[in-house]
Order: sequence, then C-alpha cells, then structure tokens
Amino acid sequence: MLVAMSLSLESIDIAAKSFWALPLSERDEAFTLLRRETPVFWSRPAESDLLPPEMSQKGFWSLTKFDDIRSASRNPKIFSSAEGISMEDMPKEITAMQSFMAMDAPRHTQLRGIAHQAFSPRNVKRLQGWIHGHARDVVKEMIPKGGADFVKEVSLKLPARIFASFFGLEGDDRLEKTVDAAMKFQAWNDPEVVGEGGPLALMAEVFMTLHQTARELAQERRENPGDDLMTWLVQAEFEGQKMTDEDIIAFFVLLPVAANDTTRHSSAHAVLALSQFPEQRALLVEDVEGRVDTAVEEILRWSSPVLHMRRTLLEDTVVRDVEMKAGDKVVLWYRSGNRDEDAWDRPFEFDITREKIPHLAFGGGGPHFCLGNALARQMLRSLLVEIYTQIPDIEAGEPDFLVANLMNGIKRLPATWTPAGG
Ligand code: HEM
Repeated sequence: MLVAMSLSLESIDIAAKSFWALPLSERDEAFTLLRRETPVFWSRPAESDLLPPEMSQKGFWSLTKFDDIRSASRNPKIFSSAEGISMEDMPKEITAMQSFMAMDAPRHTQLRGIAHQAFSPRNVKRLQGWIHGHARDVVKEMIPKGGADFVKEVSLKLPARIFASFFGLEGDDRLEKTVDAAMKFQAWNDPEVVGEGGPLALMAEVFMTLHQTARELAQERRENPGDDLMTWLVQAEFEGQKMTDEDIIAFFVLLPVAANDTTRHSSAHAVLALSQFPEQRALLVEDVEGRVDTAVEEILRWSSPVLHMRRTLLEDTVVRDVEMKAGDKVVLWYRSGNRDEDAWDRPFEFDITREKIPHLAFGGGGPHFCLGNALARQMLRSLLVEIYTQIPDIEAGEPDFLVANLMNGIKRLPATWTPAGG
C-alpha cells in the first residue's frame, strides 16, 4: 500500500478515540507505516470512557507483524489473557463477563474443554444442513425486495437464527433481547450505539439482560433437558469437572457476543468486498462451489472482523530487540498482521483464488484460537453459496462503519439486487 507523503509517525495516535473514527483505508495506511518504521511500539493509555480517569490505565505495546502476533499467541506462559483482552482497561466485572477468553490455564483449559466438543469441526459438520437451511431461508426472504440494508436483512438475522437454534430459543421472547444486547456489547466507542447514558450504563444493561437469560435457561434445561447447547453445558464434564452456574452464565454472556457480532460483520464485509472487486465476484459466480472455500478465507483475511486482542506479560520479554517488562500490556493487531508485506504476497489485493491463507482472523493459534471458527466458516460458506447462486448481481453501496477498536464492524450496508425472475 502506498503511504501518503503527508502521513508521519508522530501524527498517528492509535490510543485516541478519533483514530478509530477515521476511514478504514486511512487506518490501514497508518498501520502500514507503523509496520514498516516501528513494528513494535509503545502508546499512551487508550482514551476510554470505561474507567474514571483517576483509575487510569497504563499505556500499551503493539505488535503489528504477522510472525510476532503468531509467536505471542502461541506463548501463553508469557502472554497472559487473564488481565483482560482489549487495549482499554475495564472494570473487573466486565473482564469477568468475557468468561474463559480472559483466563489462563488451568481454568481456561477446563472450561474450554467442556465447551469445545459442541463446536468441534465434526459437530459443525453434523449441523451443516441445518446452518445451510437458515442461510437459504434468510436469502429467500430478502430476494423479492430487490434492495435493502444488507446488515438488517441478512447479517443480523442469520447469526441470530443460528444462535436461537443452538440454544433452543426459537420463537422465544428472550431471543431478540439477547441478540440486541450482544450487538451493543462491543460498541462502547460508538456514540450512536452508546446513547445518552454512556458506555458503562450500556455495559450494565447488556450484562443484566444476558445474565438473567442465562440463569433462567440453565435452570430450565436442568429441569427439562433438550437437544441444545445449554443442556450440553449444564450436563457436560471435562476431566471430571462440571461448569458451575457462574461459569455457565459467563460463557452464555460471551457466546452471543463472540459469535453474533463477528459473523454479522464478516457477512457484511463479504458482500462489500465482492462488490468493490467485481472481477473477484465474477470468479466466484463462475464456480461458486469450487471457489467458495478460498473466498471465505480471503474474506476473513481481508476484513479481519476482530481487530485486536490483548495480552499482559507475565515475565520480562524481548520482541524485535524491544524490551518489555512483566505487567506490560501487549496488543496483537490482527488486521495489520493480515496485511503484513513480509507474510503475504500482494497483501493489499483481494484475491479469492489465493492458495494458502493462514490468516490471523481467528487469532494467531495457541490456546485461545477461536472456538467457533468451524461454525463461522460454515455460516459464511452457506451464505455465500446462497447469495451468489440466487442473486449474483448483488451490489453494495456505501457502508456505515462502527467506531470501534476491537471490532471491524459495519452498522449499515445498503445493497441492491435483481429479484428472482427480474
Ligand atoms: C468470523 C467470525 C469470527 C471471528 C473473526 C472470530 C475471531 C476470534 C478471535 C480473534 C478470537 C481470539 C483468539 C485469540 O485470542 O487467540 C476468538 C475467540 C473466541 N471465539 Fe471467535 N470468531 C468468530 C466467530 C465465532 C463464533 C461463531 C463463535 C461461537 C460459536 C466464537 C466463539 C469464540 C470463543 C468462545 C472464543 C474464546 C476462545 C478461548 O479463549 O479459548 N467465535 N474468536
């Protein structure tokens, strides 16, 4: 990527909220310059409304290179998740809501072990028909409209339906509230979503909603087991251990956020990228079944729906000759690693025919690698197959991006297409 002559290192401040309101292309340009000139760098504390200034946070290191992000992700003995996973510090109660995502071994291993089997590629393969059925329905419902906000019509609906089936919440009043709460959870930097009450009030509201639903559902499934994930969670054991109620609730709070938001944004990014690069769309449409798997991987690399995760150092360490101290925060910038010139051939080209795409969209490997990756891949795959066989001329307009440093989110995406038979 060419970096504008006017852009200087001194002018880049990723700790500022205003940086995250810049257009994506400008942020990519800034990270390109950072990767080139100072791939490991220190920032002042992130501007945040989540903690009062007197409890103010420490600054943080950033890793921007693919190899460094992978090494840190695979070294949890030094790079701990237990102190929090986002670049901003948060009240301890909110970190606790992130369940085992914000834990280290051995507790992380136990809790992830219990949840793992439900999300294993083998299990997801079993669910393939069911996930594909939801994708088919959602696309079928949108076709006659000929145009709409793609986020509202598809991106929000599909993960919500999958989530509903997963938890046996179909037709349940609590579904809409749960999905709405999940949507707000990662949006604490976006004034439109936060509203007048401020980010902490928003977080409290989200927490209460998810907490209450989780408690009720766990109780209901204990009394009347069903064929759903909550029944699994209340019954399953790993190495002789069961999840406690608090563990189940925290996992339930994490899940709609980890699953809904990420898949929602990635489906919007998919249609956006395939509209911005019509020659790539033509390639996909020419052979949807043959090219969809690499298209999914390239869309994940290209969009990087999760922009960062953070670790905290348990020991002094050195990355690229930069010395860091125990207790320092280190932020792993996945989108930057997914555009690292040393790791990728033509990183700024969107190419659905790339052969090997070992991207960082689900993390850099290691114990926290995305538990839902098989499910997310299957959902995107099904959606792309349905869209690009049924309405291949779908064309996205100007996206409205979420202001956020954690999620690469799209709030609205106008789109038009030719209704079937049109
Ligand atoms: C395109 C969609 C998705 C993306 C881009 C994504 C990305 C990520 C990333 C970057 C991490 C952190 C990795 C790390 O710290 O090393 C993560 C963790 C996680 N994801 Fe996903 N995710 C997606 C979909 C899902 C879905 C559908 C689910 C659930 C069904 C899910 C459940 C989780 C869980 C539970 C964790 C925590 C794992 C742990 O700490 O052990 N994700 N995801």
